[in-house]
Amino acid sequence: MSKLQIVFWTMTGNTQIMADFIADAAKQAGAEVAVCRVGEITAEEALKADILALGCPAMGAEELESAEFEPFFEQLLPHLAGHKLALFGSYGWGGGEWMRNWEQQAQDAGANLFREGLIALERPDADAMTACEEFGAALAQF
Ligand SMILES: Cc1cc2nc3c(=O)[nH]c(=O)nc-3n(C[C@H](O)[C@H](O)[C@H](O)COP(=O)(O)O)c2cc1C
Repeated sequence: MSKLQIVFWTMTGNTQIMADFIADAAKQAGAEVAVCRVGEITAEEALKADILALGCPAMGAEELESAEFEPFFEQLLPHLAGHKLALFGSYGWGGGEWMRNWEQQAQDAGANLFREGLIALERPDADAMTACEEFGAALAQF
């Protein structure tokens, strides 16, 4: 059974909804899943999981949240080569540019990236929730 660790940051809860749907679906698909916020886990602990899924909304100007999430991700970066990694998050008006930048950083670090990062416009609607469930179920088999 794969161990999936999901670590997320959220301001208004939209990325947390995504995390919860991904987690529930991955559990149902047979993964051992742990979910927590940034700040509740060290980079070292997070890297012990077989698969790491990171959630962060678009903040700043198409950036990761700078006070908590980005420092955490920078601690992970030197250790991501070959590591199974999935990215997700909610956004507002930008069309997903922050996710493409984030994917590029992960790829440059050599991460074994699961699909394209999953994005949802603001609070996930029914279609976005279904997409999160499908993402989580497939991630369990990654
Ligand atoms: C300070 C701030 C900066 C933001 N910057 C962007 C941005 O650059 N691009 C974008 O698409 N959305 C941006 N947004 C919108 C958020 O990404 C969006 O509301 C998202 O759903 C928030 O997710 P959360 O509920 O998980 O915090 C920003 C929101 C705030 C409050």
